[in-house]
Amino acid sequence: MTKVTFIEANGTAHEVEARNGRSLMQAAVQNAVPGIDADCGGQCLCATCHIILNDDWYAKLGGPGPDETEMLNPTPELTPTSRLSCQIEVSDALEGLVVRLPAFQM
Ligand code: FES
Repeated sequence: MTKVTFIEANGTAHEVEARNGRSLMQAAVQNAVPGIDADCGGQCLCATCHIILNDDWYAKLGGPGPDETEMLNPTPELTPTSRLSCQIEVSDALEGLVVRLPAFQM
C-alpha cells in the first residue's frame, strides 16, 4: 500500500492508502474522493479523472502518452503538469504523492 493525497480544488485533502499495481484513479474511487468520476472506468476515454501534479512529481512520473494527451487536450483547466489518474500505476515509488484536482470536476 502506498500513501497518496488528493487535494480538492477547495483545499480539502484526502489521504488514502492506494493498492500497488492498481491505478491512481482506482485508489480515488475506492476511497470516495470527490471529483474523480472516472466515467469510462479507466479506458483513457473520458478525462473525468484529471489530476494536476506539481513539477517534481511530474518530472518523476513523466508526461502523458499519445492517447492520454489526446484526451487531456480539450479538458478545462488543462495545465502543463496535468495527467489522467487512470493512466498512473500505483507503486512504492509514489509514496507521499500529492495531487490536486481541478475545480471543473468538483
Ligand atoms: S477514467 Fe476515463 S480517462 Fe481516466
